[in-house]
Order: sequence, then C-alpha cells, then structure tokens
Amino acid sequence: MTHPQLLASRRGVVLGVSGENGVGFHAARAFRAAGAEVTVAHREARREVVTPLASALGCERIELDFRDERAVAHAFGELGRRHERLDFLLHTLVHVPDGVLEKPVTELSAPEFAEVLEIGVRSLLVACRYALPLLRRSDAPRVVTLLSPGGDRAVPHYHAVGIMKGALAAAVRYLALELGPLGVLCNAVSFSIVDTDAARRVIGEELTHKTRAALAKRAFTRRATDYDDVARSLTYLVSPLATNVTGETLHVDGGFSRGYL
Ligand SMILES: NC(=O)c1ccc[n+]([C@@H]2O[C@H](COP(=O)([O-])OP(=O)(O)OC[C@H]3O[C@@H](n4cnc5c(N)ncnc54)[C@H](OP(=O)(O)O)[C@@H]3O)[C@@H](O)[C@H]2O)c1
Repeated sequence: MTHPQLLASRRGVVLGVSGENGVGFHAARAFRAAGAEVTVAHREARREVVTPLASALGCERIELDFRDERAVAHAFGELGRRHERLDFLLHTLVHVPDGVLEKPVTELSAPEFAEVLEIGVRSLLVACRYALPLLRRSDAPRVVTLLSPGGDRAVPHYHAVGIMKGALAAAVRYLALELGPLGVLCNAVSFSIVDTDAARRVIGEELTHKTRAALAKRAFTRRATDYDDVARSLTYLVSPLATNVTGETLHVDGGFSRGYL
C-alpha cells in the first residue's frame, strides 16, 4: 500500500541508513514511493552497501559521521547547496559500543555512557541546528525520530539504550517547544522490535525472535510490528498531512503498550 501523492514535491533527508535490513532504508523507500525527493545519509564505511541501494531507490547520498561536528555542518551545507530547502528530517541514529549491554548498568563507564547519549540524543539536536535554516524555507517542516518501549519501561539487555531513548523522548518535546513557533513540528514513532540487522547484532537473533513472538501474542492485533507499519507512520509524520501535532510519540505496536493484562 503506497500513497503516491502524500510526499509529492517534498524534499527530505534520512539520517542513518545502514543497509537493506534497517529502518532508515525502509523509511527512505516509503518516502520515495510517496513521491518525495530523498537524500540518505550514512557513514563512510557503509558506502559500498548504501550506494547501490540509494541509486535503486533514486535517492541522493551524503556521507557524515556525527562524532565530527564539522562534518555535520559541512554535510548540511552541501545539502543546502544542492537543494535550497528541506521539508523533513528523519533521525534514526543509535550507537551501542561493543560490550556495553553485557555489563551491569552500574558499571557503565563515563565514556561509554557519553557515547551512547552523544550519538543517540545530541546528534538530533546538532542535526536540527544545521538543518534549521533549510527547514525554515519549507511551508511544512517536519522532524521525526525513533523511540522504543525501552525508553519508558525497563527491558532486559537494553539499559544504556533505554536510558538514551528516555532522554531522546524528552529532547523531542524540548525541540517541539523551541521550534514550534518557527512552524517546525517535531515528533517520534515508538515501536517494538523489528527484525533489523542491528537488532540481531545488539540483542541476538534468538531474543529478537522470542521478543517478536511474545509481542505478537499480546498485541491487540495479534501480530508484531513490521517495517511497513513503521514506515507508514513515519510517512504521515513527515508529511504536510500532519498539522499541529508536535512533541508527540506515536506508538506503532498493535496496541501492546496500551494494554495491561
Ligand atoms: N530495530 C528495532 O527493533 C527498533 C525498535 C525501536 C526503535 N528502533 C530505533 O530505530 C532506529 C534504527 O534502528 P535499526 O535497527 O534500523 O538500526 P541501524 O540500521 O543500525 O540504524 C542506526 C543508524 O545509526 C547510524 N550511526 C551510528 N553511529 C553513527 C555516527 N557516529 N554517525 C552517523 N551515523 C551513525 C548507523 O550507522 P552504521 O550503520 O554506520 O553504524 C545506522 O545507520 C534506531 O534509533 C533504533 O533505536 C529500532
């Protein structure tokens, strides 16, 4: 199911495309199907994987690593030279340093904790700083990021990322507060586990499958969330159809988090 006109004449950037089995790629594909011009941003190490995917989708590419703020400034400068405005920005970044989730939460080092927060949360603020001049030229500018239930509740094997997602949810609200008067709407989509390469890497294949099976059993809809569910909600939130909705989190989980027993 596509909505070919919803993003017609919209231009956006997807920050964080790792490959075919990632949310960023599926979002970019859905945005293209809805008629948007899309630039996908990825790290240099992913060039060989992302280049053919981007060209198959008809997306432009930009390389940047958020550990280097000058590179971010440069990348958004380049986006500004290519296109005079941006209508939407989707932020998908997450970074989990090796071994962090195997430690007790009380044993996280300052650099490990800082790295998770820097890439997961501050990158959104930095991206918005450099994107703002371009977003302000849009008649319906939108910023969207991705949350997970681990930011609201304690989930096994997820602590540092869960703490980061809680902070990211707060960052969305403060961005919404600050950018609202400028017309920029800032929202998030929260979803339960999708079988991405990163999910398998971080929590393991077995736990990914077990968790999805448990979610399917308890969701009101009796199924786990898939890429298309997430991509469709993202398409709505980056589109001009979303009006006067900001600081909001849309839960895409078949009602799982709305139930109790
Ligand atoms: N998978 C799930 O079930 C699930 C559930 C709820 C929420 N989410 C959220 O959805 C988002 C995407 O998840 P995913 O599973 O699709 O993972 P993913 O493909 O690994 O997406 C994360 C992206 O962040 C990028 N990144 C990390 N550090 C970076 C840096 N320093 N500079 C620039 N980019 C950097 C990664 O690049 P590299 O590929 O180069 O590392 C990758 O493209 C994440 O925010 C995740 O927390 C996922």
